[in-house]
Amino acid sequence: MTVSRPETYKYDQVSRYISELIEKGDLKPGDKAPSLRKLSKQLEVSIATITQAYVNLEDQGILNAKPQSGFYINALVNQINDIPKSAATRSQARRVRFGDLFEEVFRNANNPRITPFGTSNPSMEFMPVKSLTRATRSIISRNPQKSMDYLFPPGDRKLREQIAQLYTHTHTRVSANDVIVTSGATEALSISLRTVAKRGDTIAVESPTYFAVLRMIEQMGMLAVEIETDPVTGLDLDALEEAFDTMDIRAVLASPNTSNPLGSQMPEDRKRELVNLLAERDIPLIEDDVYGSVYFGDKAPRPAKSYDLNNIVLSCSSFSKTLAPGHRIGWVIAGRYHKKFLQYKQAWSSATSSINQLALAEFLSSGQYDRHLVRLRIAMREQVEKGRFMIAQNFPQGTCISNPHGGNVLWVEMPKQCDSIDIFNRALEHNIAITPGILFSATRQFKNCMRINCGHPWSAANEAALKTLGQIVSSETLNKSS
Ligand SMILES: Cc1ncc(COP(=O)(O)O)c(C=O)c1O
Repeated sequence: MTVSRPETYKYDQVSRYISELIEKGDLKPGDKAPSLRKLSKQLEVSIATITQAYVNLEDQGILNAKPQSGFYINALVNQINDIPKSAATRSQARRVRFGDLFEEVFRNANNPRITPFGTSNPSMEFMPVKSLTRATRSIISRNPQKSMDYLFPPGDRKLREQIAQLYTHTHTRVSANDVIVTSGATEALSISLRTVAKRGDTIAVESPTYFAVLRMIEQMGMLAVEIETDPVTGLDLDALEEAFDTMDIRAVLASPNTSNPLGSQMPEDRKRELVNLLAERDIPLIEDDVYGSVYFGDKAPRPAKSYDLNNIVLSCSSFSKTLAPGHRIGWVIAGRYHKKFLQYKQAWSSATSSINQLALAEFLSSGQYDRHLVRLRIAMREQVEKGRFMIAQNFPQGTCISNPHGGNVLWVEMPKQCDSIDIFNRALEHNIAITPGILFSATRQFKNCMRINCGHPWSAANEAALKTLGQIVSSETLNKSS
């Protein structure tokens, strides 16, 4: 292993090395972890770094320290590694109907008394709030009039240059002229849908998929067809091809990099294959890349956009998962749909907040973003690992937990008899929010699944809430099997 990052992050690479040995089965529950001295020699890092890594792994529940003896692999890690096996079954093209469930989930999103396992935002405690505030103050005092005036689409030039710059990490050629600033990824996705499809058209989506996408499809009178999605490798391309052969699909909307809720990530060759497959059929891909920068591996995954030789990809993203969801700053790289997208954006929402565009441009050009992202990725990975461990510890036998490639949410498949709507209601009585599985399907699949947000610090109160949730799920499991 070559360790090239700053000293503070070496321990993270060591933690990952041990986690990978466990995932591959080279280290099993109950095995002794390599001694500090041996690993320090092998990986050429200090004993202090290995110790720090082991303490973190202990905190995440992956290792147990035994006095005088060393560190051991926790007996529960096998259960942690039991990821949901089932992807969805293919659906016919369906109208999506949610009733009030969607509003019900969001109703509690801003209630400080509710434990926020429901929505998928990472806590602002992980964000550089002070630096963002400084950037905002500085912009307002230097450019008060510009801050208050319209900044019409495609948006502030400096911000678009900074956004284009972000793509150099993934060898994707993007210039400021390709970028249109939007009000969050939500607007980028919804205008993309309107740009490429109309009422009655069928959109292929991952299954399970981010529920707001289904909500948009519902509201626009389009149809959704759910395509099998592997919890590890993402969208099933054979299934997608079969769907193309039997249905008239107008567009595909997917997250090849870190999907929500599964946390799946398509291998690079599969992303390329996906883009080629669509290019051959002249079908646009709306790429939801909001989690593109919150990856857990060593290398930044490339967006599908980077394989897009025919300009059929509309790549949508935002700063909501990495900086400030309340700023509502997102963007799209719309390829051959750029002009049409711009016209729709102008017609439906006109300009995006000037202060927030200027403040983010200021923050990004200060060079702090990359360093923040390194810290955020480590923090989210630790949050998610700890969440996996605690769910394994507190939920009944037979529970499977996703092993995401990035982001901050977990997909939890409970025993078959569990009904996540009942669990949602019972959890709310204890002031705990979750997102029930059926929201992630147009055909009400995933009744026994739920999504849990691990993006908030594991305080004593949050840990206690997760335990309570485990008790609710356990009692549901028992009641419904008797
Ligand atoms: C997968 C996914 N796409 C899009 C969005 C919306 O992002 P924004 O807040 O930038 O509109 C979210 C937010 O939760 C998300 O999880």
